[in-house]
Amino acid sequence: MYFFENRFMPKNEVAVSPDDRGYYFGDGIYEVFRVYNGRLFEAEAHFERLVRSAEGIRIELPFSKEEIHSILNKLIDMNHISEGTVYMQVTRGAAPRVHPFPAGAKPVLMAYCNEVKRPLQTMRQGIAAVTMEDIRWLRCDLKTLNLLGNVLAKQHALDQGADDVILHRSGTVTECSASNFFIVREGKLLTHPANHLILHGITRMVTLRLAHEFGIPVLEEPFAVQDLRLADEAFITGTTAEITPVVRIDGKPVKDGVPGPITKRLQDAFEQAIQWSEADDRKTYIKSAID
Ligand code: PDD
Repeated sequence: MYFFENRFMPKNEVAVSPDDRGYYFGDGIYEVFRVYNGRLFEAEAHFERLVRSAEGIRIELPFSKEEIHSILNKLIDMNHISEGTVYMQVTRGAAPRVHPFPAGAKPVLMAYCNEVKRPLQTMRQGIAAVTMEDIRWLRCDLKTLNLLGNVLAKQHALDQGADDVILHRSGTVTECSASNFFIVREGKLLTHPANHLILHGITRMVTLRLAHEFGIPVLEEPFAVQDLRLADEAFITGTTAEITPVVRIDGKPVKDGVPGPITKRLQDAFEQAIQWSEADDRKTYIKSAID
């Protein structure tokens, strides 16, 4: 079952207007949530980001945070999802194609969920990445439907026989096609600061929280493509990737070419955070993760 506009329906009944501005302009926002044991992981943080994205492109959400939360929970129940993802998007609505915001259009919510297993094999083995210039716009902090830069980047990686890209702006590493990026150097974690050049990943936030708990120093500072050669470890973070090691960059192994000890430690801790999220007292965890 899907949710579309204002009700639940089977996928084949979802009738998107050809005038939908998501279709014409990528004029909308989205979120991807992880479901563990039938529950949304870090729901509150995702809803906060959704609201930030909506405000950032001046779309009025058609429902409150609480209403959307209950729609998504119902979808999970109706589709019997235990381990999976929920996708949701809100477009500015349907109107004849002109650039200005249309006066009469009503924002359209669409949401569905899928059973998706944790990527245990790649989390164990790691992935290969290639570097590439980041050609996206300058509001990568907003989770908008305009993903052409990300799509081209991912395809570039696959065309090169790699799994993903490490994007950089004139030599400064930002993030990957659908995940955030970290390196470990001399025992310290390095990742791009959460500004307008990267998505403020929920998994990134949880990872930073776990690093603080372990006393692993974190530098949220820009670093250069050349620094990748000096990295002891590298990994990506994302809703579906969780914490996945990067073991080759531009054809060369990262250190010994196997997942490193700090990455593994964070992966173990992340697994515990998932269990934690299943406990009743989830709010407390989320709150302390942000503090
Ligand atoms: N991608 N950076 C980019 C560009 C992303 O698209 C994503 C998420 C992330 C990681 O964010 P989070 O930890 O909140 O998932 C970073 C989603 C999963 C997607 O587009 O499918």
